[in-house]
Amino acid sequence: MRGHLSHSDRARAARHLARIVGRGDSLDNVIRRETNPLCLELTYGCLRHHFSLVEAVEARLARPLRAKDLDLFCLLLVGAYQLQRMRVPGHAAINETVSAARALGKPWAAALVNAVLRKLPTHPIGDASDHPPWLQGKIETQYGDHAPALLRANNQRAPMGLRVNRRKIEPADYRALLKRADIAFDDAWLPESILLRKPQPSATLPGFKDGAIAVQDVGAQLVGGFMREQLQGGCRVLDACAAPGGKLFHLLESGLALDVTALDNAPMRLQALSEMAQRLGHGGFRAITADACGLAWWDGEPFDLVIIDAPCSGSGTLRRHPDIKVTRTPQQVRRTNRLQGALLRNLWRTVRPGCTLLYCTCSILAEENDQVVESFLEAHEDARATGVVLPTGAATRHGWQMLPTDPATDGFYLARIDKQA
Ligand SMILES: C[S@@+](CC[C@H](N)C(=O)[O-])C[C@H]1O[C@@H](n2cnc3c(N)ncnc32)[C@H](O)[C@@H]1O
Repeated sequence: MRGHLSHSDRARAARHLARIVGRGDSLDNVIRRETNPLCLELTYGCLRHHFSLVEAVEARLARPLRAKDLDLFCLLLVGAYQLQRMRVPGHAAINETVSAARALGKPWAAALVNAVLRKLPTHPIGDASDHPPWLQGKIETQYGDHAPALLRANNQRAPMGLRVNRRKIEPADYRALLKRADIAFDDAWLPESILLRKPQPSATLPGFKDGAIAVQDVGAQLVGGFMREQLQGGCRVLDACAAPGGKLFHLLESGLALDVTALDNAPMRLQALSEMAQRLGHGGFRAITADACGLAWWDGEPFDLVIIDAPCSGSGTLRRHPDIKVTRTPQQVRRTNRLQGALLRNLWRTVRPGCTLLYCTCSILAEENDQVVESFLEAHEDARATGVVLPTGAATRHGWQMLPTDPATDGFYLARIDKQA
């Protein structure tokens, strides 16, 4: 680890964590303005290894801390993470974490922090899977022998994928820019897909501000690439859960003349979509704030392609969003599950007979994927799931599942459902 971790980096990481652990704020929101890479490393790392760190710290506290001292508890996690996972020398990790307690305005806790951290072994201990039991149980039930590899993969750092905006620059020309800037990368499956060898802040990449690229997982790009294959010029397309626009913009970069309607029910996320559209230079689509479980927004003219990139548990993206392991509950997954079925049933009515609906999630759980599609197929005689084949992952009963055990991609599911003419 390069650079110097100051006590204020540690105190800030503890505050970030307390917002996520205590209030359920999302990691993305909490770190929106955080630019210090070491503070980010602490925040991500403590979420990634939350369960084993909590176990280690709680076992060394004489009694639980008060709820109002959650920031202090999170600081102990930060201290434990440095000692056990970052190879920060013990005296520096302990002294600076003690100073961080003062920076949190809790000088009375200096002795406590010192005592707990001194009792901690300097190697990881405790819950090796670092997943909440309910999620670990689901993964083990579904994936059997493959589960340990998946659990391990979920605790790795996320890769950084780029999508070259072909409306702005040819992929080969962008690769030349990266080489000139001495940024190491690998090709992924599509000409526009690039995998950086080492993640870096997007604003430091050549052409980022001018919209030459978007940051997007290369697995998500495979989903977008498959969507594009279903299209011809002039198609009327509905992207029903569009924000922040990753798949939508990928389609627009195909250069086909499309008639696109983009819905989302979250105004803030649609705002992010319109900012991204501006940076990438995309226009000419209708963006509507609307509930895709209803049809109040629809003019009655059917679509040639309907895309439901459904809200889901995000269980395929735990490397990128380790906060999901800490904040998501089985109740939320059940609620989202009902929403997935409702979206599918409702939007089916907008598909032109003879045309296609694509249902996708960034989940690895069958209950959000094949099982949703299965219930839908059972209730709709005019619906047929037709095979999806992608270059990584595996076929499922009704679609295709990518898994984060491929180090290049997050976990995604995609099913193609055709409506009989
Ligand atoms: C997985 S994200 C979509 C990602 C997006 N397609 C992309 O590629 O960047 C799911 C989206 O569905 C939206 N959503 C959730 N419930 C919805 C509903 N009832 N109607 C419309 N959009 C909804 C969420 O606000 C969220 O932006």
